[in-house]
Amino acid sequence: MTAPHALEQLRELALEEIAQATDEQSLEAVRVRYLGRSGRISLWSEQMKTLSKEEKPVVGKLLNEVRGAVTQALEQRARVLQSAKETETLAGIDVSLPGTPVDRGSLHPLTQMLDRAINVFRRMGFALAEGPDIDTEWNCFDALNTPPDHPARNEQDTFYLPDGRLLRTHTSTVQIRTMTAAPPPIRIIAPGAAYRRDEVDATHSAQFHQIEGLYVDENVSVADLKGTLEFLMHELFGPETAVRFRPHYFPFTEPSFEIDVKSKALKGGERWIEVCGSGMVHPAVFEQVNRARGDNAYDPEKWTGFAFGLGMDRLAMILFDIPDIRYFAHNDLRFLKQFQ
Ligand code: PHE
Repeated sequence: MTAPHALEQLRELALEEIAQATDEQSLEAVRVRYLGRSGRISLWSEQMKTLSKEEKPVVGKLLNEVRGAVTQALEQRARVLQSAKETETLAGIDVSLPGTPVDRGSLHPLTQMLDRAINVFRRMGFALAEGPDIDTEWNCFDALNTPPDHPARNEQDTFYLPDGRLLRTHTSTVQIRTMTAAPPPIRIIAPGAAYRRDEVDATHSAQFHQIEGLYVDENVSVADLKGTLEFLMHELFGPETAVRFRPHYFPFTEPSFEIDVKSKALKGGERWIEVCGSGMVHPAVFEQVNRARGDNAYDPEKWTGFAFGLGMDRLAMILFDIPDIRYFAHNDLRFLKQFQ
């Protein structure tokens, strides 16, 4: 048998075996048998040496053709087998069926309320400040001009830790932390949780949320306090919202006010709802801060300031018409899903 003839036969044989391979492994076996290191086609390359000068170019050309044809056939068959495999895997799946819907989460109503309020304060140039939930008696009471016999300090009203620290009863601790850390002017808000040993009911919870505000500069007046909080309430609850400043007492502000809002636009209707404590920073607070700082940075003759503590749970209850503060912490999806 002549060399070309034998090569032709080899090609036919290889192509036939390729066509008969039914999976990847048997196809790979065919490849090795023909194109592997000692495969039948590879061996021909070595035999080239033994051929005559006349035969060499003819056989060489044919050998290249055969190798090319077999390689191509192997690739093609591999593709066919692959797609057959995919079709088989998908056979049991109806790709036209609708998918399983993914439940999207949403923000807690308190977080939504917080975000809205923070946004309004940002526009007025307030920066965000922070303080820890566990704080010292000094930051919570002493520095805030609260006398040792003040009822708020009572163990019946405040959660004390065995080491004498406490769960802050208000976010006003951040006023002290901010002023001891930096000189005036100050313009911050500090959102966070506060804790009181209140009897828990529809409007009282052992943990609640406030946004503290502090603005210290030269010539800050009650008018600034009033303008700031009125602007906030109008932004949050609409321009027809009425804002009332009621004289009150806090040890750390003088004069002090409680702030009520009322608005037809709110589902709560036509009644005053208390949302905030506020006032002008008491000079005694500046003096305590100066003592802690060891300087006179907060000279009460030079600087004045206002402070406020907004009840966030209250605000959210008003805005979203939520009847009971306890819902915020129940973690009941039927409740939470109403605020998506
Ligand atoms: N800390 C007060 C409270 O929790 C609110 C308040 C803050 C009042 C700042 C005056 C100034 O009731």
